[in-house]
Amino acid sequence: MNLPIPYPDPMPLPAPVWLLRTLLLLTFFLHVLFMNCLLGGTAVALVCTVRRKSSAFSVRLAGDLGRLLPSVFAFTITLGVAPLLFLQVMYGQFLYASSILIGVPWLAIIGMVILAYYGVYFFSMNLSTTNRHEKKGRTTVVLALVVLLLASIAFVYSNNFTLMLAPERWLDLYHSHGSGWNLNWSEPSLVPRYLHFVLGALAVSGLGLVVMGLRQQEDAYRQWLIEQGSLLFTGTTLLNFGVGFWFLVKLTGPVRLAFVGGNAFATSLLGVGMLLPLAAVAHLIMAKAHKSPKRQLVVGVSCGLLTVAVMVVMRDVLRNLALAPYFNPNQLPVAPQWGIILLFVVLFIAGLATLYYMLRKVAIATRVQAAAAQKLQ
Ligand code: HEM
Repeated sequence: MNLPIPYPDPMPLPAPVWLLRTLLLLTFFLHVLFMNCLLGGTAVALVCTVRRKSSAFSVRLAGDLGRLLPSVFAFTITLGVAPLLFLQVMYGQFLYASSILIGVPWLAIIGMVILAYYGVYFFSMNLSTTNRHEKKGRTTVVLALVVLLLASIAFVYSNNFTLMLAPERWLDLYHSHGSGWNLNWSEPSLVPRYLHFVLGALAVSGLGLVVMGLRQQEDAYRQWLIEQGSLLFTGTTLLNFGVGFWFLVKLTGPVRLAFVGGNAFATSLLGVGMLLPLAAVAHLIMAKAHKSPKRQLVVGVSCGLLTVAVMVVMRDVLRNLALAPYFNPNQLPVAPQWGIILLFVVLFIAGLATLYYMLRKVAIATRVQAAAAQKLQ
């Protein structure tokens, strides 16, 4: 079949494919972690503001999240840029074509990100000011809009990253709406894939609550955070088993077959990707019965984070399996520019060190502000 796939960029790749892929996966993993904390964290903050009258801890958690979320937002965006660059280098002809076909919603992301960012600042600033009562109602509405905006952004991403894998659908979409008013509705795996991401984001934010709990000094609040976080992680993860299965059956035949025995690597990843979240859930549940649960909780959180890492690799395997009939990045010419690669690695490590330093500063400042806010109440 003659498909309208543009030619790859004639410029050779500036680094070997294995290195570009490693950097893509590494930076995407970081993006996903922060994105999950942002999407899940705003949803948790919304629930807390709704429950503010019945639960003092909810008010306190909303305050803590209000102090953290603006930084989490900034890291989500910054850490999205690097995978976008690596993706363009290796799969540009697919990503550009699908981005043009869904051009309107794709470009609308910029406006949605700006609005959501404002909303998060509105929430954050209203919590730290003293005019709490009259503004709480408005804060809930703004937070609900932020959650909606972030969920919509994620949906557009899912549309683009599924459409780039289906060049056989491009011409039809172009003929139906050549001006970019498209989404990838006819993709059978779109909805389960999207729900899988959203539930995953809620689950990871549950782990975030457990981590916040582990860092708390005050016993009752610490216990509450760990309980709520474990509950959120366990509930959404168990649901995600069902959604994950739905996602699997909606994949095209050859890709699905690869994950259920056809390809040893893909099948092992699926197996590990199912065992790790079970291990995480088991450790979080066992922690409840332990006198000193810290070790169980740390193992539980680590298994949860490893699950995200495995899912990131699986998503890449899925992309390569889906594109295999049309393209393999290993066929592209490579002319390594080692000087530039070295510079990137040095700057990347320096960037991660800065990120770590900033996160520590934010964590310390949050604790000081939270203590001050507690004293005021
Ligand atoms: C702030 C709100 C954001 C949310 C909620 C969000 C959410 C998501 C989601 C759900 C996916 C996976 C979609 C799928 O595969 O089905 C994704 C992938 C991705 N996002 Fe974000 N994102 C956000 C911001 C950004 C920004 C600002 C950038 C770039 C500057 C970015 C870059 C990427 C890239 C490059 C991928 C795909 C990487 C790959 O295919 O390996 N994201 N995002």
